Amino acid sequence: MEFQRIEEFVLREYGINLSAYKSKQLTRRIESFMSRIGAINENEFIIRLKGDNLLNKKFRDHLTINVSEFFRNKEIFMDLEDKLREMTSQTTCPIKVWSAGCSNGAEPYTLAIILDRLTPGRRHQIIATDIDITILETAKRGIYTKNDIKNVDIDILRKYFNIREDKYEIKDDIKSRVNFKRHDLIQDRYEENFDLIVCRNVVIYFTQEAKNKIYKGFYKSLKPGGLLFVGATESIFNYRELGFEKASTFIYKKPGGN
Ligand SMILES: C[S@@+](CC[C@H](N)C(=O)[O-])C[C@H]1O[C@@H](n2cnc3c(N)ncnc32)[C@H](O)[C@@H]1O
Repeated sequence: MEFQRIEEFVLREYGINLSAYKSKQLTRRIESFMSRIGAINENEFIIRLKGDNLLNKKFRDHLTINVSEFFRNKEIFMDLEDKLREMTSQTTCPIKVWSAGCSNGAEPYTLAIILDRLTPGRRHQIIATDIDITILETAKRGIYTKNDIKNVDIDILRKYFNIREDKYEIKDDIKSRVNFKRHDLIQDRYEENFDLIVCRNVVIYFTQEAKNKIYKGFYKSLKPGGLLFVGATESIFNYRELGFEKASTFIYKKPGGN
């Protein structure tokens, strides 16, 4: 292990277990950060992290990579919308949704908006989790930049956001529909009975072994007939082995249900 002391520091300080992350990419990320700040070795780097809260936070952000946006890969979201239309028309019960690795909240709020448009007035249960507590605070505030909302249609923007100069704040009604919690996909237990799990652009950083463990966990967490929605570069090649059926290019289904 190239950065054993840093990995130990990260586990102790941030509670993040880096052994599940792809080692080549991880090494590259640590090296690029160290070289950017001019740290010459692990010891010096750790001493600087300990003595500088801002640097410490920046390093954690760098490791967790929390890039996100509303309606990320918009055309794929349309596919999900079709599936949710079908799902919500078959029941009057609330749909239970999990946005796993939700980052700044753009993803779970996108889901809340889609569900509100499909079933006006009906409330659903949306749980949004991330390993990074700082980004979860940003998510709860729900204030975004022009770049974050660039895929949002103007009618959706007007209905669901308060717009002040160059800031776009998600309205309280949609905010209140999402329940944010810290959760580590590698180390924590998974809740069950979900109709939909959305996990996009998170597992790309994990080893195949960690991915399989996560997907098996998702399978168990879904109701029969439940859907797993993954990112645009994250097709699950061994989906059959894991028990899933393919519902569309980036949506997998746990067999059963209606
Ligand atoms: C690139 S963002 C993806 C955000 C959103 N899902 C999207 O597609 O726009 C990846 C997120 O995964 C989170 N993450 C990384 N490792 C995690 C873990 N072990 N458990 C839960 N979340 C994790 C990061 O903190 C980050 O916010």
